[in-house]
Amino acid sequence: MENRPNVNVAAIGPEEVPVIDLSGDIDERIVEEVGNACKEWGFFQVINHGVPLHLLEAMKETSKEFFDQPMDEKKAAKRDEVNPVGVVCQEYAREMEKLAFKLMEIICLSLGLPGGRLKGYFEEQTSFLRINHYPPCPFSDLTLGCGRHKDFDFLTVLAQDDVGGLEVKRNGKWVPVKPDPTALIINVGDICQVWSNERYKSAEHRAVVNGEKERYSIALFLVPSHHVMVKPLEELVSEEDPPKYLPYNWGKFYATRNRSDYKKQNVDNIQIHDFRVPN
Ligand code: OGA
Ligand code: NI
Repeated sequence: MENRPNVNVAAIGPEEVPVIDLSGDIDERIVEEVGNACKEWGFFQVINHGVPLHLLEAMKETSKEFFDQPMDEKKAAKRDEVNPVGVVCQEYAREMEKLAFKLMEIICLSLGLPGGRLKGYFEEQTSFLRINHYPPCPFSDLTLGCGRHKDFDFLTVLAQDDVGGLEVKRNGKWVPVKPDPTALIINVGDICQVWSNERYKSAEHRAVVNGEKERYSIALFLVPSHHVMVKPLEELVSEEDPPKYLPYNWGKFYATRNRSDYKKQNVDNIQIHDFRVPN
């Protein structure tokens, strides 16, 4: 029952995921807005984000063409330089990463840290893109495209088309994220939750499917180098605010997670909660 999309959806009202204008240099307003959004929601949309809109369009077209191919061609598609899918994806990934690192800098500043505080953890980063395709579903009231979950990365940059379907859990209610194909959706992930010692929390979210229209979304997951030990940052812990997590190795966590994810849906995945220090 809990997984059914139409139960408990908040009425559209003032409770909307914040939209933040990123144009211009990083200034106090941007830092404050991002900090508040991370604290209050763990989710926000950015506009004037610097990623060329034609590239967002090209990536959506490419995703569509890719999913429209027969299965054996999909399997054969190679991601090399001569392949147009590869070229668009590479350019897109580069732009998304640039934005993700800018947001990381803003998040650091909003936590009272130097903007480059986390940079060193990403020297051999292995961030990746995922294209989600949600075909239309006549039983959309009873079907979820992507079950409720939290992202286990540092932050996610998501591009979506104009169909809509993403929902964020806030105060026990599912709040729909308004589709705006020119905006990008940002959410903080579990690693941000741990590094910030829970000043910012990774929000639960899910995607519901549409009865008539198919939907595409493209996610960039920003993750650190495999050797990094993830733990609350020293600057953010004190005697009054002791570390809420034990250190865990990112690469090991990720490998363990990948072995179990989607394959054995009934088995509990490794989660940051496994490293939580009891209160
Ligand atoms: C994800 C995700 C939501 C969407 O890929 O982790 O949450 O709207 N996607 O596709
Ligand atoms: Ni997600």
